[in-house]
Amino acid sequence: MFLSKLALLQFKNHPQREFQFSRKINCLIGNNGIGKTNVLDAIYYLCLTKSYFGHNDQQNILFGKDFFRIDATLVRDQTKHTITYKFQNSRKKELLVNEVPVPKFSTHVGQYPVVMIAPDDNALVTGGSEERRKFLDSTISQVQMKYLENLMQYNQFLSQRNAALKEFAEHNTLDKALLETYNHKLHVLGTEIFEARSLVIERLQPIFSYYYETLSLQREKVSFQYASQLRDTPLESLLEKNLKRDLILQRTESGIHKDDIEFFIDSNKIKRFGSQGQQKSFVVAMKMAQYQFIRAAKGFRPFLLIDDIFDKLDPDRSRELLNIIAGDDFGQVFLSDTDSTVIETALRENPKIYEILNI
Ligand SMILES: Nc1ncnc2c1ncn2[C@@H]1O[C@H](COP(=O)(O)OP(=O)(O)OP(=O)(O)O)[C@@H](O)[C@H]1O
Ligand SMILES: [Mg+2]
Repeated sequence: MFLSKLALLQFKNHPQREFQFSRKINCLIGNNGIGKTNVLDAIYYLCLTKSYFGHNDQQNILFGKDFFRIDATLVRDQTKHTITYKFQNSRKKELLVNEVPVPKFSTHVGQYPVVMIAPDDNALVTGGSEERRKFLDSTISQVQMKYLENLMQYNQFLSQRNAALKEFAEHNTLDKALLETYNHKLHVLGTEIFEARSLVIERLQPIFSYYYETLSLQREKVSFQYASQLRDTPLESLLEKNLKRDLILQRTESGIHKDDIEFFIDSNKIKRFGSQGQQKSFVVAMKMAQYQFIRAAKGFRPFLLIDDIFDKLDPDRSRELLNIIAGDDFGQVFLSDTDSTVIETALRENPKIYEILNI
């Protein structure tokens, strides 16, 4: 898959801008605040119909204007594709693929897979468990359309069950049949999600270790494991067993919405013991594993976006990272930095594979 052209109109700080990209490494170079991250986010937008940074459509319109538009031309399976995303204030957002409107955006997710690595991603290691669930969800939903639907349904039943618990507590009543219905729905959907997450964690593990050890030049051994209440007990039993507690707390305390991943570095928990650079290497290796997992499932190479490529990495790790992405395991890469010297020095022997774009 190869993105050849990107046009931005009133997207964040870009009034009007067009880029032609090369097939391998595209380096977006420019000073702080010039709009490099925004270009990467525009590519992410086209692939997953939302901002990586959680900004809503409204926040992405150039200040003082009332719409934005992103257009891209790309090649996939030797065929030319176009993608357009338009948003106008107080009107509906629109997504067009090959000029045909896409009615349900969730069907677009995974068609043009993408992996982003950004400085704030350290939250994957240091932040709350929802960050890790988000990572798993974004990985699996790009390869399995049903996953996203299951997850949305699960969350709906979860809110309904929580609302019922609240009502029972307030009115001192209990509708057992209603709870059993929710328990069963949550069990069926939750078990499917649990199985998909178990499988992806198992697949990510060896790829992750390989990349981490390469990045750290074999200095550290790392691992992770899936922490889920469903590992030992079926969800339906958990829900029945913990009903008393749920009624007191007025919310559902068992289920895949409590899942987590535990990370270890030389058998210590990295959250507490890893340095910033080690945590960053961890995140980068995790994202590379995500990339290779999606690539294997799709049969072609996703886009890789790396914002502030050398953020917190020492020169050894930076060089390793460039070597890895320059190889054949990765396809088209978009990266940003304020200066091109390190990149040009590291890739000096291979000047054909990269292009410097001054933003
Ligand atoms: N909706 C918007 N309209 C206009 N400008 C915006 C909008 N949203 C963000 N910006 C501006 O975009 C600029 C930031 O762009 P971006 O984060 O892409 O910069 P950058 O080149 O990545 O910088 P750095 O090197 O510091 O990471 C800021 O000046 C910000 O005010
Ligand atoms: Mg930036």
